[in-house]
Amino acid sequence: MCGIIGYIGKREAFPFLLNGLAKLEYRGYDSAGVALLSDELCIQKEIGKLSEIQFEEEEGKIGIAHVRWATHGRVSKENAHPHFDCKNEIAIVHNGIIENHRELKAGLVKRGHVFTSDTDSEVVSHLIEEFSAEGCNFEDAVINALKLLEGSYTLLAIKSGENKIVGARKGSRSLTLGISEQAIFPASDVLAFLEWTNKVVYLKSEDVFVADDELGLCIYNLAEDRIVVRPIDTVKCDAEEVKKGEFDHLMLKEISEQDETILRALQQNEEIVQGICDKMRNAAGTFFIGCGSSYNACLTGSYLFSKAAKLHVNPVLASEFENYEHFLTDKTLVFAVSQSGETADVLDAANAAKRKGSRVVGIVNRDGSILARESDGQLFMNSGPEICVLSTKTYTSQVVLMEMLAYALAGKYEEGLKKIGSLYLDIYKLTSRSMREHLAKLAAILYDKRDIYLIGRGAQYATALEAALKIKEVSYIHAEAFAGGELKHGPLALIEDGVPCIVFVSNDNKSKILSNAEEIKSRGGYIIGVASEREEIFDYWIKVPEAEELNPIIQIIPMQVLAYQLAVYRGLDPDKPRNLAKSVTVT
Ligand code: AGP
Repeated sequence: MCGIIGYIGKREAFPFLLNGLAKLEYRGYDSAGVALLSDELCIQKEIGKLSEIQFEEEEGKIGIAHVRWATHGRVSKENAHPHFDCKNEIAIVHNGIIENHRELKAGLVKRGHVFTSDTDSEVVSHLIEEFSAEGCNFEDAVINALKLLEGSYTLLAIKSGENKIVGARKGSRSLTLGISEQAIFPASDVLAFLEWTNKVVYLKSEDVFVADDELGLCIYNLAEDRIVVRPIDTVKCDAEEVKKGEFDHLMLKEISEQDETILRALQQNEEIVQGICDKMRNAAGTFFIGCGSSYNACLTGSYLFSKAAKLHVNPVLASEFENYEHFLTDKTLVFAVSQSGETADVLDAANAAKRKGSRVVGIVNRDGSILARESDGQLFMNSGPEICVLSTKTYTSQVVLMEMLAYALAGKYEEGLKKIGSLYLDIYKLTSRSMREHLAKLAAILYDKRDIYLIGRGAQYATALEAALKIKEVSYIHAEAFAGGELKHGPLALIEDGVPCIVFVSNDNKSKILSNAEEIKSRGGYIIGVASEREEIFDYWIKVPEAEELNPIIQIIPMQVLAYQLAVYRGLDPDKPRNLAKSVTVT
């Protein structure tokens, strides 16, 4: 997820661009850059947060700027945006993922283009250059370039000698135009220009706009192949509302970011990962501690490490860790898992471990947090700020890190990165409008149930626990998860006609979990299957791809959406569930 902003108007662009970037920094702070057009094109870019970068104030009433979360290409100055063409005449900033960038780049390199980055975005500036060289005017060169792109994008482009900004969007990433009497501000979201104007044009997917220095504005839609008119709306909400973008709630927005955030979780330093694995192999006992969703990620990890690397680790609730402290020595390795890095139970447990001389590795999202600062080593989740009280994108980022460690422990690190990275499109589909509608129908069936039960085996048991947590904390419906094999040891007594049970099916334990489901069905239960194939026993089927050892990433996503739909159906605020806080800084 990145942030982009542009300015074309009657005043110097620089201060507007920098001020706007600061409002967008919650979308990414690996690097930042700005391009300004006066007599010539001037581009500055650096790695780090805005507060750490000193940009020179350059002249120019036209400019574009960018803050980056790296998804394709490591964090480096070369990979920072804006990107430019071979002649430094064209600059672009981009948010999204260009799925066919490898083929496009290969063709461009073959035709003599020289690339300076290993991002997917840079292909766009060279494509525009190529179409310009063929005689297209600037806007047509941009349009022809866009027609070759596969994937989703929001994009701004400027060119020496052209007093205009051309921009476009495709797919779920938003692009809005702030409209004032002095200027036009294209931006990822209205937050970037809200202090200067509340007049906004919301561009639709496949809209291309051309804004010129007379503040003329033309919008063309690629799909409809014609000029279109988009109304000028008034932003009627505060900044907090605005962060939702096009979504009704932050929870849905953050669920929908997971196609990208899992890629960001993959951006790790391999040396650090391998070093951590060595410590795991040599430790005299390894604990994974966390609370809530973070504990569920720890439990998931314990199954993955056992299966992939035959390594035993101890997942323990941080609030229960004091009962195990007598096992700790200076040879023990403790993973403290916490997206906020501020959870008091986790910090207490980590400090207890350090008092015993154990080494503490933090798996954490916020790099300024206490856990990030006080642990001996860290793996950062890179999920970006998670504002909704519920952990959704940070949970799957934690699971991605567990998967990465498991693959690395099994000596399959590269293979693992590829397999996890290939989930991008599956996750994009699992958070799509059609899946949301399918789960809204299920919410209409479940919304007034007193209890919802969930069963899974192996890592799917941890998924069932996490799904139960999501449902209960946001819809207030009692949801309880059991290991499938445990039903006959008591929980079956709870089953009566119509009681709903969600069953997580994966290839490695399919027949066993389906016979557990049969135990429920034969007593009148209503079976909801999370599975790659429809089974006779299902009363409702949620279709997910079979991802084998990666099922813990895939199968939780429809559950997050179901929990969201249940809350909405029950008229609750998914972003602020009662009695809960985003970070529990008290024990
Ligand atoms: C999960 O949806 C809840 N917000 C809660 O269980 C959370 O996971 C728990 O409080 C731990 O938070 P942390 O990851 O910031 O430590």
